Amino acid sequence: MARIVSVKGRRVWDSRARPTVEAEIALDDGAVGRAIAPAGASMGSGEAVDLRDGGASQGGMDVTRAVAAVSGPLAGALRGMEAADQAAIDGAIRACDGTTRFANLGGNAAIAVSMAALHAACASARVPLDEYLAAGGPVRIPVPEIQIFGGGAHAGRRVDIQDFLVVCPSARNFGEALDRTADVYHAARKLLKDAGKLQGVADEGGFWPVFATNDEALEMLVRAIEAAGYTPGDEVHIALDIAASDFGRGGRYKLGLENRELDSDGLSEMLLGWLGRYPILSIEDPLAEDDIEGFKRFTAAAGDRVQIVGDDLLVTDAGRVATAARERHVNCALIKPNQIGTVTGTKAALDAAQAGGIAAIVSARSGETEDISIAPFAVGWNAGQFKVGSIARGERTAKWNEMLRIEERLGSRAPYAGWGAFPVKERSAR
Ligand code: PGA
Ligand code: ZN
Repeated sequence: MARIVSVKGRRVWDSRARPTVEAEIALDDGAVGRAIAPAGASMGSGEAVDLRDGGASQGGMDVTRAVAAVSGPLAGALRGMEAADQAAIDGAIRACDGTTRFANLGGNAAIAVSMAALHAACASARVPLDEYLAAGGPVRIPVPEIQIFGGGAHAGRRVDIQDFLVVCPSARNFGEALDRTADVYHAARKLLKDAGKLQGVADEGGFWPVFATNDEALEMLVRAIEAAGYTPGDEVHIALDIAASDFGRGGRYKLGLENRELDSDGLSEMLLGWLGRYPILSIEDPLAEDDIEGFKRFTAAAGDRVQIVGDDLLVTDAGRVATAARERHVNCALIKPNQIGTVTGTKAALDAAQAGGIAAIVSARSGETEDISIAPFAVGWNAGQFKVGSIARGERTAKWNEMLRIEERLGSRAPYAGWGAFPVKERSAR
């Protein structure tokens, strides 16, 4: 059993040229673990606090206080603790901060330290992280949701909808899902180029949208799937992240691109219309985080045929996930470790989804790094689905590539989750 001898904070950089927090933890047996906090741009109001310095440095986005919290108070709290006791470590991180959402030390400091301790314990145990987390339980390789167009807060609000993604539950394995996605990505690039609309990529590596309406983006995505040689709604499905909290509050939704304002039912009607016209399998945050009644009505209307995902609504909070599952606000929970601030809290939210009979997606953030922790989380905790942005840019491919390595190592011990990962029945457009 190895104990923590040192905890060090380090200021490193993320994929948006913003500073972020790395934690490095060494144990008395020589094992070392390291992890980096990601950062969101379209954040739920209930998330753990992403502590920034404010002031002039780095546009107020510097993290010297959060880094100092790692090397200072958090190091003091954890030194001497048993590294394998993740619950005790996360309890100590919480107690050291003293607030429910890590307002003092920063959720970014907390998640980096919590994950670094996990990596150190795992290094000490000398097993791969996914197998360490699974502890002999059943595991599957998750179905990836991969972005083709980026929008919303990740593309200067150029279109209202944040993510236009593809998902391939009918692929034989993870590698084949990536192959199909790359084909669609390149077909989309060619369609954009031919239309004189190719303008580079948004924050998560999907193409920067230059569409006149949100419908135009959906039509272009369907055409890209066809141009890549696949049947939309069969070999390749569409997933959307509406991220409606970014343009709606108090039951009013302002669609900037189409210069329209809708109420909760009006937005639902628009989305239900899309579900009828396009091969959409999954829709995230269709309504704003303060519109629980809207979520309930939307899930009652469409939850039998489409996956409805709560992100800003649930913020990886086990209590919120349990309530949402029981009262059918959604039928799937998005799981982002830095929303709740600890590994234990993240696992609890995933457990609440699984206990409540709803699906789960382990997800990256729009501000990412080479840290790949969420890939083994998705496998070891048997989440079933995995969302990391697009299939371009190194901070994204680091995670996809790690999943390919895990798939290769586990072989038949970890089947591709496929349709079984979704809260709706298998369907085909053929
Ligand atoms: P964020 O967005 O990481 O910018 O918060 C991702 C998402 O909404 O899923
Ligand atoms: Zn989201």
